[in-house]
Amino acid sequence: MKTYIVGNWKLNFNVGESSIYLHKLQKKIPICRNVEVVIAPSTIALQPLSLQIDRHKMKLAAQNAFYRDYGAFTGETSFTQLRGVVDYCIIGHSERRYIFDEDDKMIEKKVAAAVRNKITPILCIGETESERAFGETADVIRDQLLGGLRDVSEEDIDKVIIAYEPVWAISSTKAAKYASPYDVADAIKLIRSTIEELYDKKVAEELPVLFGGSVNPSNAGGYLTVPGVNGLLMGGSSLILSEFVDIIDIAKRVKS
Ligand code: PGA
Repeated sequence: MKTYIVGNWKLNFNVGESSIYLHKLQKKIPICRNVEVVIAPSTIALQPLSLQIDRHKMKLAAQNAFYRDYGAFTGETSFTQLRGVVDYCIIGHSERRYIFDEDDKMIEKKVAAAVRNKITPILCIGETESERAFGETADVIRDQLLGGLRDVSEEDIDKVIIAYEPVWAISSTKAAKYASPYDVADAIKLIRSTIEELYDKKVAEELPVLFGGSVNPSNAGGYLTVPGVNGLLMGGSSLILSEFVDIIDIAKRVKS
């Protein structure tokens, strides 16, 4: 199975900066068949970068899109418009859930719209700090999976990627706030058993599941060796070219 290394640039880099970063990144990494490198720039940079990107080396992801294809939805970009521009879209990121109030219903529609438009959704799920403190982690993971995948048929589930991102571990600068490999292992097991219940054992084994939350070159190798982890989704480290390249190298070594 492929290993996914996904960089979510969030609201950083203008079009020029994005293009320069991509230029440098493409020079630094060779084509590698078993590691899929994906970058998620701001929406405004997607179109120009889609003309610049070497798709043999890496792919583009959108950070968000709207579920309706066209119409009176001021300010939105649709999956239909992104077709041919990106291969992936991050959906249900905790910043979308908690800053922009996206609920499971909205996320369900976005996942379905992505699949309909042949864009692979990277469905993010994960508990907040207080949900964790109240012992609700398992329920949250289950509910978010059930919600996000409600419209995904057995035929289409192999077009979906799940990213487990505990909200309390995102953007942390303190090692004490990093998720431990044990936390990650427990969550991954739960994700796969829920997928097995919803679909079947084969789907549960083959579905790519990524981890995200303050991933950096020092902890990436540890997360990648947790059984069932098929890749990493990162914010901060993907903004620093040397760190992102290091993490791609680590993935190649660990998973070879
Ligand atoms: P981080 O962000 O790597 O900066 O913690 C991860 C994410 O939000 O996807």
